[in-house]
Amino acid sequence: MNNKFIILLLCLIFALAKSPALKAQTCTWTTFQAESGTRSSGSTIDTNHTGYTGSGFVNTANATGSWFEISVATTTAGATNLQLRYANGTTADRPVSVSVNGTTAVASVSLPATGAWTTRSIKNLSVNLNAGNNAIRFTSLTSQGAPNID
Ligand code: GCU
Ligand code: CA
Repeated sequence: MNNKFIILLLCLIFALAKSPALKAQTCTWTTFQAESGTRSSGSTIDTNHTGYTGSGFVNTANATGSWFEISVATTTAGATNLQLRYANGTTADRPVSVSVNGTTAVASVSLPATGAWTTRSIKNLSVNLNAGNNAIRFTSLTSQGAPNID
C-alpha cells in the first residue's frame, strides 16, 4: 500500500464514522405525573396504595368512558414513545383508548392485571404527537374504569 492509498482509506473510515447511519439515536424521557393532569368527574387522586411516584395516583371512576388526561408540549411532531405506569389489582384486563387533541390515536390498549394495587407495570405505547400542545387522553373501555395511573 502506498501512502496516498492509506490516507484515502483513513478519510473513508473517518467519513463513515461521522455518517448519521452510524450514530446512535439518543432519547430523553420526561416524566408527567398523572395527578398533575385532569380527569373525569368521580375520579380521584389517591395515596392509599404504596409505591406510587409523585404525590399520588389517579383512580378513575369505575365506569365506561371515565378518563384522565395529560398535556404534553413538544416542538417535534411525529411518533413518540410513551410509557404508562399503572396498577391493576384485579384479575381482569382494563383496556383504554388513547386520543391526542380529541383524535383517536390508539383504539384499544390492553392494561392487564399487575397482581396487586401496590404493584405497578409499564405499558409501552407509540403515538403521533403534534408540534405544540398535545392533550393525551386515556379513556376506559369497560365499566371497570381504567387501572390506577401513576
Ligand atoms: C379498589 C382500589 C382502588 C381502585 C378500585 C378499582 O377500590 O382500592 O384504588 O381504583 O379498586 O377497582 O378501580
Ligand atoms: Ca378506580
